[in-house]
Amino acid sequence: MPAVNKKLQTRANQVCKCFEVSQDLILRGVDYFIDSCERGLETDDDPTALMMIPTYVTSIPTGHEQGVLLAVDLGGTNFRVVSVTLKGDHTFSLVQAKSPIPLDMMSGTSAMLFQWMSEKIDKFLKTHHSDSLKEGNNFKMGFTFSFPVKQKSLNSGTLTRWTKGFDVSDCVGKDVVALLQEHLDALKVPVTVGALANDTVGTLLARSYTGANKEGETIIGCIFGTGTNGAYAEDVSKIKKLPEDVRKHLKEAGVTQMVINTEWGSFDNQMKILPNTKWDQVVDKNSSNPGVHIFEKRVSGLYMGETLRVVLFDLWKEGLLFKDYATEEALPHRLTTPFNLDTEAMSLFEIDDSTGLKASELKLQQMLRLPTTTEERLVIQQLTRAIAHRSAYLAAIPISALLMKVGAFDGHHVEVDVGADGSVVEFYPGYRTMMRDAVSLTQLGPKGERRLHINISKDGSSVGAALCALSEE
Ligand code: GLC
Repeated sequence: MPAVNKKLQTRANQVCKCFEVSQDLILRGVDYFIDSCERGLETDDDPTALMMIPTYVTSIPTGHEQGVLLAVDLGGTNFRVVSVTLKGDHTFSLVQAKSPIPLDMMSGTSAMLFQWMSEKIDKFLKTHHSDSLKEGNNFKMGFTFSFPVKQKSLNSGTLTRWTKGFDVSDCVGKDVVALLQEHLDALKVPVTVGALANDTVGTLLARSYTGANKEGETIIGCIFGTGTNGAYAEDVSKIKKLPEDVRKHLKEAGVTQMVINTEWGSFDNQMKILPNTKWDQVVDKNSSNPGVHIFEKRVSGLYMGETLRVVLFDLWKEGLLFKDYATEEALPHRLTTPFNLDTEAMSLFEIDDSTGLKASELKLQQMLRLPTTTEERLVIQQLTRAIAHRSAYLAAIPISALLMKVGAFDGHHVEVDVGADGSVVEFYPGYRTMMRDAVSLTQLGPKGERRLHINISKDGSSVGAALCALSEE
């Protein structure tokens, strides 16, 4: 092998080593996660704790719910308007309109964003429910809003901060339900926003509806997509930070549990346990929310691709890759511009077994306008695998920790279900298998891993919002 190749290979091996996750890190991560949850349930004033947001969702569906409801879902990448028919037998059907969120909406004003959303809802109703509109019906709607929101009731919540590249600054601190309702009313769209749900809460409810007890109780609803997060049901008595009057009211109503949105994307923002390579630091710096959601930046789809881009750019700077490009200006702009390499491409690199990695060659050429040698592609594949592996191994931490925290495996022969949604867990090759490998390295061990079922809850976030709106009736 020529000397220069050896240099590249040695460096690639070194970089990959930095993305390794040891069993010791996983074990410490699980303990620290449980500790961060517990502190987050006590107070909102501990910046090192998880946000642990009470959602005011106090019942979990049985699968027998029925009705036709509207739901809208503002996620990380798409906005969806959905009408869901819950059939009462664990099944549902849905009609949906999906629109990619335009970049200017992600960083404009809240008026622009909510007006755009209201117009999409209006159009959807005119297309799919014109008869009901003519009859003068009012529609009840659930709103999935996949960002950290402080809720005071099921149908109100103020935005704490944006994540996943959004930066509509005048919206922070405002009630997002009131904003949507205002814009719907202004357009005379006959819709009442009845419930607000995080996508993880929606996923938990939707999986409980469809999967109820098929493979054990659904304990967690989680998302591994553009962002990552999870929700679970907690004993009200343990949510110490709930105001006294709320606790009293819940007690009188006989309510014992409430769903908590953990916002685990912000786990260990202080990086007590989490890895922090020099490339992670660049990813954080280039993000719209530096210093927070540190766990998400090592795990979710938006940042996996960005991490690979930053590493590739760095190896170019070190003179090891893409040597035909003498200056930064000459490099394809997608390699020099943050967030221009997506996880879909990584999925392809991950499993490319074509001769000379020809499929990756084509993708790199089309997507980045970047000609590559076979040797470069092999390195790209190696780095891709290291970054995805780290993501999946870290992903096992919150899942295992929450299962331990609620004692999900207590008792004999217990099986446990986790509902998951999002492009990474659904489409990234081998992701769920890698996650399971890492679960077996946690305190739950191989026995826990064997009893754990991670099921994709397709369309979970929207269906769950509809279920929330129903529970509000
Ligand atoms: C981000 C958001 C969170 C959401 C997650 C998955 O972490 O802060 O609310 O659930 O992405 O979409």
